[in-house]
Amino acid sequence: MDGNGRWAIKQGKNRSEGHKEGAKTLEKLALHAKKLGIKILSVYAFSTDNFKRSKEEVDYLMNLLIYYFQNKLNKVCEQGIKVVFSGRKTPLSSAVLEAMDKIVKKTEKNEECILNICLNYGGQEEIVDAALKISEDLNKGIIKKEDLNRESFQHYLYQDLPPIDLLIRTGKEHRLSNFMLYQSFYAEIYFTDILFPDFLEKNLDEALYYYGTRDRRFGNIKS
Ligand code: FPP
Repeated sequence: MDGNGRWAIKQGKNRSEGHKEGAKTLEKLALHAKKLGIKILSVYAFSTDNFKRSKEEVDYLMNLLIYYFQNKLNKVCEQGIKVVFSGRKTPLSSAVLEAMDKIVKKTEKNEECILNICLNYGGQEEIVDAALKISEDLNKGIIKKEDLNRESFQHYLYQDLPPIDLLIRTGKEHRLSNFMLYQSFYAEIYFTDILFPDFLEKNLDEALYYYGTRDRRFGNIKS
């Protein structure tokens, strides 16, 4: 969800206003994605590296997230969307962790689709954390070395979600920035200059249209 800060500066506002607007955009997009039948939407809300930002911006973002989990995402929950999180718990505050826990519990029986919120998330960190859990399970004999493969490795990630089909990067940058590296091994990547707060329902439709034009051969050749 890149470009919130630049969106705000362009409007003569402070960066935090951009995050607030970005949150509104996410609300709209989540409902739109559900309406279109998208089963899993993963969003990058806060990376492990985002802790390098000013305390003021980090605090603002954390409070915004709490506010959304406690209030604004209610509409999303009522629509049958199940909220899950990917990322490390440390050093998130107990207030953030509690709000995350509540929304997870509140939506755990929802079956329409999944909103996977990557919070205090890093793709390399996720792979390292999975490797650590695997080594523990190997030591305990819970899994055998010969049972380890691409698919079984996936079960050790923060969420056991299938590979990403379409990855959308807003805000002009052409990089993955440590987002879901394991899951995006064969993702179609859609880059757009649009800053996230301006990325509306019709822009998601355009990205999906682009996805529909791709020929996904998964390493095979056309038959
Ligand atoms: C990146 O833009 C965006 C973020 C670091 C925060 C994204 C968070 C939200 C949209 C808040 C709402 C989230 C939920 C789950 C309710 P940037 O600040 O790096 O923008 P810039 O590149 O223009 O500086």
